[in-house]
Amino acid sequence: MIAVINSTKIIKTPIFTIGNIEHSPTIKYGSLDFVLQKSNKQVSKIIETMCSVIQNKHSYIIVDVKVHDLKEKELPCLDNWHIDCVGRHDEPQKEEVHHLVLFGDCSLTSFIDGPIEIDVPNDKVINWNKLLVDPPTFQIESNTIYTYGRNLHKGMPATKNGRRLLIRITETDKINPRNIIK
Ligand SMILES: [Fe+2]
Repeated sequence: MIAVINSTKIIKTPIFTIGNIEHSPTIKYGSLDFVLQKSNKQVSKIIETMCSVIQNKHSYIIVDVKVHDLKEKELPCLDNWHIDCVGRHDEPQKEEVHHLVLFGDCSLTSFIDGPIEIDVPNDKVINWNKLLVDPPTFQIESNTIYTYGRNLHKGMPATKNGRRLLIRITETDKINPRNIIK
């Protein structure tokens, strides 16, 4: 079925730069309280600043934190176009709101630029890599909060050795906090 996807407007909110990125525990789907309790001061300060962009229109808020030491050409995650937290663009729950910020400039996430019209199969989880042929893209900047919804994006191989800090706050009706420390 032909669908228009990636139509949510992405909002950019620049925040402060930080000096050296310090190690902090990797946390997946943490509650705000849990992440603030377990993270170092640097990460806690960033999250407290990010709280100003939270929209509070969903049942749950979950937070991911990851400090990654990357070698040149290494990927911070799978090299797949994806939508965060859902397999399809048209899942029935209210569209999630994600607030993502990266520190460090060795590996900056790529997003599909603008809405695209595409023939999407009826599969539960879609292989977007198969469907997207040379899509228009842009790379995010560090020290900037990107607020988006079901917008396709993917991690990029590191352009040099370096440390990368990712923080993502997600507002969702689908996933409750699980407080996983990795
Ligand atoms: Fe993602």
